[in-house]
Amino acid sequence: MLANVNFVTTLQCTLCGKEAAADRLQTVCPACQGSLFVRYDLKAAAKAVNPKVLSARTQADRSMWKYREVMPAETPVTLGEGQTPLLPARRLGAAMGAEKLYVKDEGLNPTGSFKARGLGCAVTMLKQFGVKKVAIPTAGNAGSALAAYAAEAGIEAHIFAPADVPKGNLAEYNFYGAKVTLVDGLISDCAKLVQQGREREGWYDVSTMKEPYRVEGKKTMGYEVVEQLGWKVPDVIFYPTGGGVGLIGMWKAFDEMQEMGWIGAERPRMVAVQAAGCPPVVEAFNAHAERMVACTNATTMAAGLRVPKPYADKIILDILRSSRGTALAVSDAAIKAAVRELASSEGIFAAPEGAATVVAARQLYQSGWMRPDETVVLYNTGGGLKYLDVLQ
Ligand SMILES: Cc1ncc(COP(=O)(O)O)c(C=O)c1O
Ligand SMILES: [Zn+2]
Repeated sequence: MLANVNFVTTLQCTLCGKEAAADRLQTVCPACQGSLFVRYDLKAAAKAVNPKVLSARTQADRSMWKYREVMPAETPVTLGEGQTPLLPARRLGAAMGAEKLYVKDEGLNPTGSFKARGLGCAVTMLKQFGVKKVAIPTAGNAGSALAAYAAEAGIEAHIFAPADVPKGNLAEYNFYGAKVTLVDGLISDCAKLVQQGREREGWYDVSTMKEPYRVEGKKTMGYEVVEQLGWKVPDVIFYPTGGGVGLIGMWKAFDEMQEMGWIGAERPRMVAVQAAGCPPVVEAFNAHAERMVACTNATTMAAGLRVPKPYADKIILDILRSSRGTALAVSDAAIKAAVRELASSEGIFAAPEGAATVVAARQLYQSGWMRPDETVVLYNTGGGLKYLDVLQ
């Protein structure tokens, strides 16, 4: 049984709405294979905690588990993930004609990326449910985060990554003691190998959106940004989208905050930023489609954006549309220039995925889609140091 200071009630399918028990380990919806969301008794949570209590916690709880009343566990496996700074990008903003531009710098997380939030939460739950072996298909940083948290939890980690994964990630997998398989292909090929091996090997599969808990960790990016802006949602959020977990998680956080009475019905316009060499979200968004078509020959230096077809394609598209957001693809050359611009003008050495948001933001200021006085947050999802094979 789950310990009862948290307010988890059930798991619920994001596609068909059916419920699944939260007191045992689940994967996807048994009826339709949709992703499962953790549901909470938010009325009870709102009695136990509120923005004032949370703001007073800032110094004492230096991790994402500060939001524990809306998290699925009580005893976290933590390396201090979350509570990253929201940095005003003054020079960069001035260069774009923007007055309220911020960078949420996720590069400061353990293992240098926002993946620490999702995998930290997932490994917490795996440990709670007694899992001994876990496997992941990864474009790079998710494998690093899994390897670190699995090491901390004493769980065996099996990582499947493309053979050309950034060397920094590979070094992390090895030093954290994970078992690594390099695959001649993309993350989708890695996912097939995990799927084929999981029953034979007894692995729990923590693929993006195929288990309920990575979203719960990633959603803390939404709670944090609202708290950092004085319990207000920003007008626009730019998110470099691969599998889309952070986008989905933040949207879930906004819904939960509204239900607890912390914010109203207002929502940020959500902008998915992708690489021109692999833009399935952008193509489906522009085609007014409900589902995505797998992109072929995916290539980009932004390894985390090399996801040919996100599992939660429908949810991502629904969020972009209901937020009145959009989706943009940017070139690798522009991404590389933006890494330099962010570093030299703001002191932030960003991952290419994070720098891609700078390129997209500039375009949307120029086109008039964003006004200069709107509050805009760019998610720099990781640090640049792991990408020295492409950033020279
Ligand atoms: C630095 C970075 N940014 C963005 C992404 C894409 O994240 P998501 O799968 O949540 O869309 C990844 C995924 O590997 C990443 O490593
Ligand atoms: Zn279902």
